[in-house]
Amino acid sequence: MDESHAVGGTHDPRGQRRAVVLGGTGFVGRRLVRALSERDWEVVVPSRHAARHRDMALWPSVVLVDMNPPGRSDLATHRDTPELAELLERTDLLVNLVGILNERGHDGEGFKRVHIKLTKAALRAAVDAGVPRYLHMSALGADEENGASHYQSSKGKAENWAHRFGRKHEIAVTSFRPSVIFGPGDSFLNRFAGLARLMPGVFPLACASARFSPVYVGDVVSRFVASIDDPATFGERYDLCGPHDYSLGELVSVAASTSGHPRWVVGLPMWLSRLQARVMEWLPGKPFSRDNLASLQRPNTCDPDCRREPTRLEDVAPTYLAPDARKRR
Ligand SMILES: NC(=O)c1ccc[n+]([C@@H]2O[C@H](COP(=O)([O-])OP(=O)(O)OC[C@H]3O[C@@H](n4cnc5c(N)ncnc54)[C@H](OP(=O)(O)O)[C@@H]3O)[C@@H](O)[C@H]2O)c1
Repeated sequence: MDESHAVGGTHDPRGQRRAVVLGGTGFVGRRLVRALSERDWEVVVPSRHAARHRDMALWPSVVLVDMNPPGRSDLATHRDTPELAELLERTDLLVNLVGILNERGHDGEGFKRVHIKLTKAALRAAVDAGVPRYLHMSALGADEENGASHYQSSKGKAENWAHRFGRKHEIAVTSFRPSVIFGPGDSFLNRFAGLARLMPGVFPLACASARFSPVYVGDVVSRFVASIDDPATFGERYDLCGPHDYSLGELVSVAASTSGHPRWVVGLPMWLSRLQARVMEWLPGKPFSRDNLASLQRPNTCDPDCRREPTRLEDVAPTYLAPDARKRR
């Protein structure tokens, strides 16, 4: 490996290290980009929706890059779309957080494109550019062979491929496999809190007994940051879980009551859950799908001997779900 590309080193004579964060505009991404910027990294964030994330361009040493093809930009001013290879020049760290919970179609191709093809393209470009370090966001339950859903199998395949590729091309790969992630701006507790507001007293719920170990976004970001220069994490995969396990019904109940709309959560039988998924996957934004339903059939919890992240959901959820917290925003 070229010495100038060594992990922990930098391509920049002034000593500032450069990271490219794919998916850096998302819920986890914004937190990670902020953390890297605070640690004096130059952070490049490509986005298909740069105009929606203009505020990030004002963060210290963050470069927001509009990835729309010329003429399709949602920014007023625009230059030619840079290639990934160009973005990765002089880069010390590539992070891939890109992921979707639902695809536009129904045959798994959308998941393959976003999870597998994008990972392959990013890592191939990283090798060409001599990037020495790669952090990969996978998901708890990701399983190439036995995934219960297109989401889980495509995530598993991307994760396995990244590790094989890293070994072959001397890129230090670390992947993270979180259970559901909570924190300000999450789409999990916030969504259930929003739905609870619309429900008249009773909250009918598919797969109410599905199990999760929700993990705090701040803890997830800390693990990413701590791993960057830690050789013990190279080549490793980490399940990330919070301190406690909950059923989906319990989580919905917490989201509803914390947001000031306590509801009686009633689990739907499987036949009705299937029907709900079939109907909802045709609604705009696909709020629920048969693929989501399939993922929910496996517990999304860590093994008993797995290290647990410290932050409790009960301590953080009120800071962004409680009615007074929502008013402050
Ligand atoms: N949130 C959770 O509970 C959770 C749990 C387990 C694993 N994960 C994984 O963690 C990662 C981040 O999750 P998140 O909640 O932060 O997701 P998010 O808020 O939905 O953000 C997704 C990001 O991916 C980018 N993206 C989406 N589709 C893309 C595509 N086709 N091409 C290029 N970029 C695309 C988006 O960027 P632009 O729109 O700006 O281009 C956005 O920045 C994902 O891989 C997810 O699977 C999340």
